[in-house]
Amino acid sequence: MTGEPMFPERGPWSDGASYERYMGRWSRRVAREFIAWLGQPAGLSWLDVGCGTGALTATICAECAPGAIVAVDPSGPFIDYARGTLRDNRVRFEVASASALPVGDRSIDVVASGLALNFFADRPAAFAEMQRVAKPNATIAFYVWDYPGGGMGFMDAFWEAAMAVAPGAASAGERSRFPFCTPGGLLDELRAAGFAQAEARPIEVTAEFADFDDLWAPFTQGTGPAPAYYQRLDGETRLALKRTLESRVAGRRPIQFPARAWALRGRPG
Ligand SMILES: C[S@@+](CC[C@H](N)C(=O)[O-])C[C@H]1O[C@@H](n2cnc3c(N)ncnc32)[C@H](O)[C@@H]1O
Repeated sequence: MTGEPMFPERGPWSDGASYERYMGRWSRRVAREFIAWLGQPAGLSWLDVGCGTGALTATICAECAPGAIVAVDPSGPFIDYARGTLRDNRVRFEVASASALPVGDRSIDVVASGLALNFFADRPAAFAEMQRVAKPNATIAFYVWDYPGGGMGFMDAFWEAAMAVAPGAASAGERSRFPFCTPGGLLDELRAAGFAQAEARPIEVTAEFADFDDLWAPFTQGTGPAPAYYQRLDGETRLALKRTLESRVAGRRPIQFPARAWALRGRPG
């Protein structure tokens, strides 16, 4: 499924530079740990599903000496950003969805995905596609934030502040949208999809911000679920949210939050 972008220009995944400031900088940190855990040899064929602006793709290029990488995402603006910032002739970026991967059957050694699986509208279809394109002994692996455990601390702090000022914020937050992002929930989904040798582990990093503006500005730029939610608020509620979050981190220098992702891997069934 290649060709026209599948997401509108304005939406949660519409601006690569804003995404990098909001989340890409932290995704890159998890990606390094994830890649080390996978421990794959050089020369393999990789697929990055939901590659966004290329955080995981770039890490694969830097750490794994891949033979080739196909990196797909339905966001045209993100794919444009990735193409413009990661120029590597081993990489082919394509606009495509996880449920219709533009690669042949049994052609990929390592299928990987970073911080994207919970956003796939049809995870069973995505799992089926990942197994279709994987070679028989391939590794299929991904990581997502520990949303139910408040694992991405700065996003959790945003939603806690939002709940204090805006009725309805709780149901918009990732904690309630993605309850399956636990080791048990994800392993159950992998096993139900027919994966073999499925296992999970935590990856922990720290997100630190130079000052409040470094933390706050990305929330105002529209890219990502929390920033998209912020854009829907009226001016008074926006200001109340900003003041609430600011008061909760007052006096902290640097402002630091723990971040925990769950990483999973398995083999096609
Ligand atoms: C939080 S971003 C992660 C991007 C990148 N992998 C990273 O680690 O920074 C989530 C990504 O999932 C993508 N996405 C949403 N639905 C998708 C689908 N059905 N198939 C593939 N990717 C999807 C979005 O476009 C977005 O780029």
